[in-house]
Amino acid sequence: MNHKVICVVGTRPEAIKMAPIILALKREPTLDVRVLATAQHRHLLDQVMKVFNVEPDIDLDIMRPNQALTTLTARLLLDLDDVLLAENPAVVLAQGDTTTVMTVALACFYHKIPFGHVEAGLRTWDMQNPFPEEMNRVIAGRLAKWHFAPTESSRQNLLREGVSDADIAVTGNTVIDALLSVADRDVELPVVLDPTKRLILVTAHRRENFGEPFERVCRALLTLLERNPDVQVLYPVHPNPNVHEIAHRLLGKHPRVVLCDPLDYLPFVAVMKRAYLILSDSGGVQEEAPALGKPVLVLRHETERPEAVQEGVVKLVGTDFDAIVLEAQRLLDDESAYRAMARGVSPYGDGHAAARIVAILKDALAGPLT
Ligand code: UD1
Ligand code: UDP
Repeated sequence: MNHKVICVVGTRPEAIKMAPIILALKREPTLDVRVLATAQHRHLLDQVMKVFNVEPDIDLDIMRPNQALTTLTARLLLDLDDVLLAENPAVVLAQGDTTTVMTVALACFYHKIPFGHVEAGLRTWDMQNPFPEEMNRVIAGRLAKWHFAPTESSRQNLLREGVSDADIAVTGNTVIDALLSVADRDVELPVVLDPTKRLILVTAHRRENFGEPFERVCRALLTLLERNPDVQVLYPVHPNPNVHEIAHRLLGKHPRVVLCDPLDYLPFVAVMKRAYLILSDSGGVQEEAPALGKPVLVLRHETERPEAVQEGVVKLVGTDFDAIVLEAQRLLDDESAYRAMARGVSPYGDGHAAARIVAILKDALAGPLT
C-alpha cells in the first residue's frame, strides 16, 4: 500500500516553497501525495498554485478579510481536525512560520501523525520580531519529527534548542529550487516601467511594521524620489488592508511611483531581475534577491536569515527614516558600494533542496515510523 503524504500550503510563500517538494513527491510511484490548501491567503495562493500547476485536493478556504490571529488559529484547528481524521496520512509536511504551519503542527501532534518541518530552525530569538512568526516556528519545531533546515546556521539553532542531530537535515531552501525553475522564462510585465530610470522595488507586509513604522518607510521613499529624479519606485502592494491603506494614501499620487496589485510569481521574478535595488521586509525576497545579484535593504531590525547579511549582499535598515534614506542613497551614489552588494551569491540553496527532502522521507517511510 502506498504511503499517504499530505503537503499543506496556506500563504503565497508557502506555495512557492512547497511546490518543488510537491512536484518531486508526485513523481514517486510509492507515494500517495495529497495537497491541502488552508487558503489562509486566497488570491495570492491561487496565483502561485497556477504557476506551478499544482491543484489542491482539499481546500479549507479559510481566509476572511483582515483576519485576526486568534480567530484564524481557532478556525484552522477545527478544520484541520476534520481533515486529519478523514485522511489519516502517514506524514504531513508544511513550510515556514505562518499560522497555517503552527496549527498544522499542533493538529498533527494531537493526532499522533509525524510532521516534517520544511525551512526549520530559522530564529531571531525575539518573540516579538517577527510577530507572530518567531513563536509559530518555535512551536512547529518543537512538534516536528523531521527538521529540514535550509542552512548550517539553522541547524545550529535547532541543536541549541535540544533537537537531536539525527532528526535534522541541512537541505538548502526550496525557494531557490522554485526560483531557478522559473528565472529564465520570458514574461510580459503587467506594469509599464520607464527604461531610463533606476528601479527601486518595494514589498512590505510584516505585522510589526503596521502603522507608524510603515508610514516612515513611505516617507523615506518620497525623500529618495525627491532627491533622485532618475529613480522610479515599483511597489506591488500586499492586500492586507493595514498595508494597502497607508501605501495608497502616502504614495498613490507620486508620478514616479507605480503601485500595483501583488504580481504573479513570474512577473515578480522578472521585476526583481530588472530592479537596481530592493527594499523589503519579506523573508522570501531576502533569499531570492542575492541569487539574482540584487542588493536588498531589509525593512526590519532583525532577521532570521543572517547568511546573506554576513555575505554583505543584504543589509538591515529597519524602519528608521534616516537609515533607509542614508543606505539607499549610498547605493544610488557609490558605484563600488553598489557593486559589493550586487554580487550574485546563493547562501540559501543550490536548487536541489526538494530532491534531498524527498530522499530523506522515502528512506524514513521505508522503515518503521516511530
Ligand atoms: C501572512 C503570514 C506571514 C507571511 C505572509 C506572506 C501569519 C500570521 N502571517 O501574513 O507570516 O509572511 O502571510 O505574505 O501567518 N489578503 C487578501 N488576499 C490574499 C491574501 C491576504 O485579501 O490573497 C488580506 C486579507 O484581508 C487577510 C489579510 O490580507 O485577512 C491578512 O492575511 P494573513 O494571512 O492573516 O496575514 P499576512 O499579513 O498576509
Ligand atoms: N512575491 C510575488 N509577488 C509579489 C511579491 C512577492 O510572487 O508581488 C513572491 C516573492 O518572490 C517571494 C514570496 O512572494 O518568493 C515572498 O512572499 P511574502 O513576502 O509575501 O512572504 P514572506 O516570504 O515574508 O513570508
